[in-house]
Amino acid sequence: MRVVVSVGGSVLVPTLDSPRIESYAETLREVVASGHELGVVVGGGPVAREYIGTARELGADEVSLDRLGIEVTRLNARLLGEALGDVAAAAPIEAVEDARAAFRRGEVPVLGGTAPGHTTDAVAAGVAEHADADLLVYATSVEGVFEADPSEDEAARKFDRLSPAELVEVVNQVELVAGSNAPVDLLAAKLIQRSGLRAAVLDGSDPQHVADAVAGDHDGTDVVPE
Ligand code: UTP
Repeated sequence: MRVVVSVGGSVLVPTLDSPRIESYAETLREVVASGHELGVVVGGGPVAREYIGTARELGADEVSLDRLGIEVTRLNARLLGEALGDVAAAAPIEAVEDARAAFRRGEVPVLGGTAPGHTTDAVAAGVAEHADADLLVYATSVEGVFEADPSEDEAARKFDRLSPAELVEVVNQVELVAGSNAPVDLLAAKLIQRSGLRAAVLDGSDPQHVADAVAGDHDGTDVVPE
């Protein structure tokens, strides 16, 4: 199976901690060893937010802020690439097209952001679409897709299964509420919808959840094409 895993920055590097990155890498290497083709997209996490917040105070425009965020996601991708060792593509990957090329060479593309205007959620969906992946896994800091942002509404229920159209609808609703955050952004949801990708959104705090999802078993939200 060809799998793209999006690892949130808050999941991989809540703080800079080598054992945590190594443990993610070990699990991802096991996924490869069990015969799957793997691509990984890494987010920026708290460090990206700090850089963006500081630069915003300094008057930077939104594109410049996005560029800072991209730099941090790429630094995080490099850390994971180092931990993955020889299975990772040798050269840093910076574009969706290069990720597909790495898949074709039998390497694991590990990338961060690509261009201003979106997040690594959409990059992961773009990589999965372009490389015709069988599964896209979002390893996030929440347990799945909820009907409302669980950090804003404690009573919000988690969906076990959604169609891509329902995912777009839910993300749209959640993002309409000021301050709320969906675990997958709207552009990513729309890419999932148009490409008919199968996706899983789950709690990535334990990397084993990602391996379990690749094996078809997880407690998050399944997004299943109609
Ligand atoms: P993230 O993908 O980590 O954003 O990229 P996020 O979803 O806001 O962060 P988490 O998942 O909640 O931790 C960090 C920032 O980098 C820029 C955006 O500004 C984004 O908010 N970015 C990232 C881009 O502009 N383009 C990309 O392709 C990726």
